[in-house]
Amino acid sequence: MLIDQASLPGSGKTVCVTGAGGFIASWMVKLLLEGGYSVKGTVRNPGDPKNGHLRELEGAEERLRLCRADLLDPDSLREAINGCDGVFHTASPVTDDPEEMVEPAVNGTKNVIIAAEEAKCRRVVFTSSIGAVYMDPNRSPDAVVDESCWSDLEFCKNTKNWYCYGKAVAEQAAWDFAKEKGVDLVVVNPVLVLGPLLQPTINASIFHILKYLTGSAKTYANSVQAYVHVRDVAQAHILVFETPSASGRYLCAESVLHRGDVVEILAKFFPEYPVPTECSDKVKPRAKPYKFSTQKLRDLGMEFISVKQCLYDTVKSLQEKGHLPLPPQPDDSLRIQS
Ligand SMILES: NC(=O)c1ccc[n+]([C@@H]2O[C@H](COP(=O)([O-])OP(=O)(O)OC[C@H]3O[C@@H](n4cnc5c(N)ncnc54)[C@H](OP(=O)(O)O)[C@@H]3O)[C@@H](O)[C@H]2O)c1
Repeated sequence: MLIDQASLPGSGKTVCVTGAGGFIASWMVKLLLEGGYSVKGTVRNPGDPKNGHLRELEGAEERLRLCRADLLDPDSLREAINGCDGVFHTASPVTDDPEEMVEPAVNGTKNVIIAAEEAKCRRVVFTSSIGAVYMDPNRSPDAVVDESCWSDLEFCKNTKNWYCYGKAVAEQAAWDFAKEKGVDLVVVNPVLVLGPLLQPTINASIFHILKYLTGSAKTYANSVQAYVHVRDVAQAHILVFETPSASGRYLCAESVLHRGDVVEILAKFFPEYPVPTECSDKVKPRAKPYKFSTQKLRDLGMEFISVKQCLYDTVKSLQEKGHLPLPPQPDDSLRIQS
């Protein structure tokens, strides 16, 4: 079907996506190009083959420009953001090493907001995290986690959860700086993101699942985790960018599962892998899922892909990219027997 480019929401608009080669940002670039936008994607090294997938996206040849930029180099960000109607600030270290995490996350975010103000961008959409929302030991187990919740910084520090600490401080800095500079900021707080990889490498959240398929995890933990599909996360960012009335934070989540549920789903879909069947904790009662609300995002028209689909798509993608062995095909087994 022939698409009338001029009728697409992004037609004639240029936006910047920071950390364009990453798991979530690659999907944003893909959906933005499909939506008719011209995209300036920042990467630390445009020549690195790990960013090659971006150039293969539909529309990339005509409307994607990769710009070299580092979060701690304000001039490089300025150059990338100049001439853009909006910025999707997604680049961030994803690590629990305090040295590597906190400064680029926090100062990088400030640098992006300053550059967006100078470029007179209409809106900045910042990728925060459930890590900036959820880590509060004093919240009642029955409380519904929503956009009003903030992680407890002291608790993050004491538990050495430097990723959540860095994301919470970076998001707070984004709000403070945007206010000071008069920049229109909207924040998306995704939970753990799964789904098909566009990039050739494996990012941190995908390891969460990979370890249950390779035999490296012999047991599963007695804990719960909320999940969301990567396409939905990218879509949510674009939705809040394109909706003028969108404001504040948006929790982006599909459902919470116990690890026991995750391994059960994986084993049913993919019985060929050594998925663990035992919980590492045989003493404490099974951890209960927490309640959360994504009403704010749903009110904008967002619908979420199911977590089962999300797990299925993740494994299929890992197989397709050669990160997991494919199950033996019927023909192969015949050959082995003969
Ligand atoms: N995946 C999840 O489950 C999840 C959940 C909630 C929130 N988030 C947030 O979503 C964002 C993207 O995460 P992801 O899962 O897509 O991770 P990812 O694949 O590791 O992507 C992170 C990106 O940030 C870039 N980056 C890191 N440090 C940088 C620096 N100093 N200067 C410039 N770029 C830098 C990386 O570039 P290089 O390729 O050059 O290293 C990479 O492109 C992050 O803000 C993360 O906190 C992720």
